[in-house]
Amino acid sequence: MILVTGGAGYIGSHTCLELLNSGYEVTVIDNLSNSSSESLKRVEHLTGTEIIFYEGDIRDPQILNRIFSEHNIDAVIHFAGLKSVGESVDNPHLYYENNVTGSINLFKIMDKFSCKNLVFSSSATVYGEVKTVPVHENFPLAPTNPYGNTKRHIEDILKDISSADHSWSVSLLRYFNPIGAHESGRIGEDPRGIPNNLLPYISKVAAGKLSKLKVFGDDYDTPDGTGIRDYIHVVDLARGHIKALEKMKVLKGLITVNLGTGNGYSVFEVLRAFEIASKKTIPFVVTQRRTGDISVCYADVSYAKEILNWQAEFDINRMCTDIWRWQNQNPNGYED
Ligand code: NAD
Ligand code: WQD
Repeated sequence: MILVTGGAGYIGSHTCLELLNSGYEVTVIDNLSNSSSESLKRVEHLTGTEIIFYEGDIRDPQILNRIFSEHNIDAVIHFAGLKSVGESVDNPHLYYENNVTGSINLFKIMDKFSCKNLVFSSSATVYGEVKTVPVHENFPLAPTNPYGNTKRHIEDILKDISSADHSWSVSLLRYFNPIGAHESGRIGEDPRGIPNNLLPYISKVAAGKLSKLKVFGDDYDTPDGTGIRDYIHVVDLARGHIKALEKMKVLKGLITVNLGTGNGYSVFEVLRAFEIASKKTIPFVVTQRRTGDISVCYADVSYAKEILNWQAEFDINRMCTDIWRWQNQNPNGYED
């Protein structure tokens, strides 16, 4: 049995689907602070398999004790966390409390029940402003905001735990920019309010729900002046977690792995790919740079291939096509 914390969320729900399709049994804990349990119902429907769901908070030791007592948990995939960079700047204690305290609570209870296999959602944000690309796992860590700091702290805690006790298996997976949706159009990203991230914003503009995209700066040192990122399809990302679980069966200790495609796309390139996928013209206006944004970031993916035997399969056109299908079939996200 795999426990998926934050399993009702965007990446969690796609990972639950891949887990069930790979024959794993799945239990989810999620406090639904940024998601809807409808995502899990849809995963159950798509796979014809049941998910055991606990609505609860990873900061609550009682519910975690209950889950570990009621099920034989072999491994945990730990997605539960808050992820808005701006909110973390305004409310750092909330981020430390939720992400770091919640994680410590989880690790203590895993230890108590001798469940020492963990896959953790880290982020490329731990690298901060990088000097060169592609970004290799051994680059120095220099997050530039409280959200990134929480990821770095949790990574450090896990490094210390696995050095103290060699029976732990830990995969720190550093995601680049996850986008896309399952090809069924039944599950996808459903941000609350006005989206912060590029793709959810573009898809709402294409759908006529927002008037125009604000391109945050066209004066970066890139070929077209806009920021470059490594966008990765969420289904590829989810499959990377299955590979990490498989690796754990044969490898103890801690590994740190970038999950990206290794390719960078600019804001204008993504915009064009989305226009082609949606057959819509997407109005935009160039504005000032967004504070804290970096110019270029994409992954060195050689270690993922070597250690996990994993590489991304889907290209940017497929990512946009799948987002557009999800947007069209669910104009109001999971409320529909
Ligand atoms: P998401 O918000 O859709 O999913 C996170 C889930 O965790 C939500 O369902 C939320 O309700 C739940 N949650 C939050 N705090 C909780 C708590 N204390 N107890 C129980 N449940 C809680 O986000 P996502 O995009 O699916 O991200 C999943 C993980 O991956 C997060 O840890 C995030 O920081 C990390 N990550 C995301 C991205 C990205 O761009 N989406 C990139 C890098 C890393
Ligand atoms: C991508 C590009 C923007 C919105 C964030 C987090 C990071 C990680 C992934 C969790 C940039 C430009 C964006 C818009 C724009 N999350 N942009 N107009 O900033 O790379 O990463 O999500 O770990 O921690 O910081 O992603 O999608 O916000 O931006 O021009 O309305 O699109 O400037 O170049 P980012 P993003």
